[in-house]
Amino acid sequence: MERVVLDVDLAMGAPGSDIDDGFALALALADPGIALELVTTVNGNTDADTATALTLELLHRLGRPDVPVVRGATRPLVRPQARQGSLPEDVPVREPREGVAAEAMVEIVRAHPGEITLVAVGPLTNVALAMRLDPGFAGALKSLVIMGGVFEGQTNNAAMPGEFNIWCDPEAAAVVLDSGIAAKWVGLDVTLQVRVERAQALEMAASDRQFTAFAGEYTAAWIDHIAEIDEPGITSCAMHDPLAVAAVTRPDLLTWRDAHVAVSQADLTRGVMVCDFRCTGSGPDGTPRPARPNASVAVAVDVAGFNNHFLKNLEAIA
Ligand code: BDR
Ligand code: CA
Repeated sequence: MERVVLDVDLAMGAPGSDIDDGFALALALADPGIALELVTTVNGNTDADTATALTLELLHRLGRPDVPVVRGATRPLVRPQARQGSLPEDVPVREPREGVAAEAMVEIVRAHPGEITLVAVGPLTNVALAMRLDPGFAGALKSLVIMGGVFEGQTNNAAMPGEFNIWCDPEAAAVVLDSGIAAKWVGLDVTLQVRVERAQALEMAASDRQFTAFAGEYTAAWIDHIAEIDEPGITSCAMHDPLAVAAVTRPDLLTWRDAHVAVSQADLTRGVMVCDFRCTGSGPDGTPRPARPNASVAVAVDVAGFNNHFLKNLEAIA
């Protein structure tokens, strides 16, 4: 059983907001191989207060109000906050557990050294703060899985080429890359391949199961939103964050390569990842390569395998 802390910028339940953190939370609860011990929230898709209220509401809907939620960073380490959310009036404001996310992360990881897998599916602000608070934090994790970055090709949804979570807080990403733990990075070039179609979302919306209907409704609305503002004609949306959660118990669904990764903090290239896969062994003339791997990067995904894992687990949810 994998003991997991999930760090989210969850916005499922607010109109016009991305829905994949919500599916990531649902998958973490549904996967029988995962014990979800803590959820932390961070600014990103929305502000931290809205993310916290929506996370608590979703846990309530999923019948798991017992899972502790701790609010995290209200803005990136250095940059201004990217997005301000607005909480729908019918979502009750429930109180999270007292404290702040970075401290709660340090506390649980220090209490169970080598046992906790941290899955970060929003900007890396809380993770970087935990690393700054406790220099032994990274070394005490069992594993760190991150949805973020873009490593191959020219895919982008922020800077060119860039990915939103890393673009939001590139300084935090730099702290994580420099922390000594080779995190498993699940980047946009891979997550864009796992998708839910609008027709599938509408089918879910018609379900008599509570979470399925709710998630389907917001997924269809999100696809309509991106078709309107971003990608005319698009009929599906990506399941970025659930793929990172799937990587915890099913790393075999992805192909991993060691890499040396750096992130740009310059304004013009904000959040762009520079990924060197030729960082091990020696160069053509026999001299050792200078860079050591600081990341394990997903370079391919078994799309059918993921869909099967994802849908099978979601079916277990009422
Ligand atoms: C990432 O950004 C957010 O919009 C999604 O939730 C995901 O974590 C994809 O770039
Ligand atoms: Ca996210």
